[in-house]
Amino acid sequence: MAVIGIMSALHEELAAVLAHMPDEQRVSVAGRDFWLGHWHGHAVVVVLSRIGKVAAATTATVLLERFRVDTLVFTGVAGGLGSDVRVGDVVVASGFVQHDMDASPLFPRHEVPLYGRAHFDAHADLSAQLAGASRRVLQEAERHLGHDTVDEFQLHAPEVHQGLVLSGDRFVSTGAESYALRQAWPAALAVEMEGAAVAQVCHDYAVPFAAVRTISDRADDTAHTDFNRFIREVASRYSLAILSQWLVGRQPG
Ligand code: ADE
Repeated sequence: MAVIGIMSALHEELAAVLAHMPDEQRVSVAGRDFWLGHWHGHAVVVVLSRIGKVAAATTATVLLERFRVDTLVFTGVAGGLGSDVRVGDVVVASGFVQHDMDASPLFPRHEVPLYGRAHFDAHADLSAQLAGASRRVLQEAERHLGHDTVDEFQLHAPEVHQGLVLSGDRFVSTGAESYALRQAWPAALAVEMEGAAVAQVCHDYAVPFAAVRTISDRADDTAHTDFNRFIREVASRYSLAILSQWLVGRQPG
C-alpha cells in the first residue's frame, strides 16, 4: 500500500491530525517521533518537521529512507510576499528557491552547488489536488473556523494562490528584508524556513512533494496581533481541513 508522509510545522496541526488516527503507533528515530497509522483509509506517517532547512531535510530523509513514504506533503505557515497575498490566505507552492544560498563566486548566486539549479519544482498533480482541497476549505472558512474567528482576524474572502515559495534559515520580520526578497524574486508569493530543503531531498529520491502554507504574517515589521492564537485558531484548522479534504478525494494506492 502507498504510504503518505505528512510533515507538519506546528504542534497544533500534528495533534489535530493524530486525533483522527485512532490506530497511530509512535516510532522514534533521530530524536523525532514518527506517527504511523491510517486516515481516511490511507496509510500515513505524520511527523513534526522541526524548524529550519537542515532539521526539515533530516526529517524528510528519515520519512523516505526508513518509512518508505512515496508521497510527501508539508503543511505549515509562511510570511506573505506577493502584493495580493494576505494574512489568512493559503499558498500552494509550485516551486521553491533557497533565498539564502550563496556559493558565489564558485557558483552563480542562489544556485545549489552541483545541482546546476536554484529552483526545485513541487509535483504538479499533487499540488493541483491540494490547491483544489484548499479552495473547497476556504470557500467555507466560516464553517471551519467559526464566525467570531473569521471576524476577529478579518478573514473575509480568503484566497488560494499557487506560485514560487522562498525558503531560508531566517524568520523574515522587517520591511527591508521582505522588500529585498521581492526585488530579487518578483514572482515570489511567500517565505518560510523549510520547503526548498524538503523539495531538494524529494528531488534526490524522485518522490512527489507538495506544500501548503497558511499566511500568518506579511514578513515585515507589522507584528501579528497574536501569532500563537492565529496558529491555533486558524492555521492548524485550515491544515487539518485541507489534508482531510485531499485524502477523502484521493484513491488509496
Ligand atoms: N513562517 C511564517 N512567517 C514567516 C516569516 N515571516 N519568515 C520566515 N518563515 C515564516
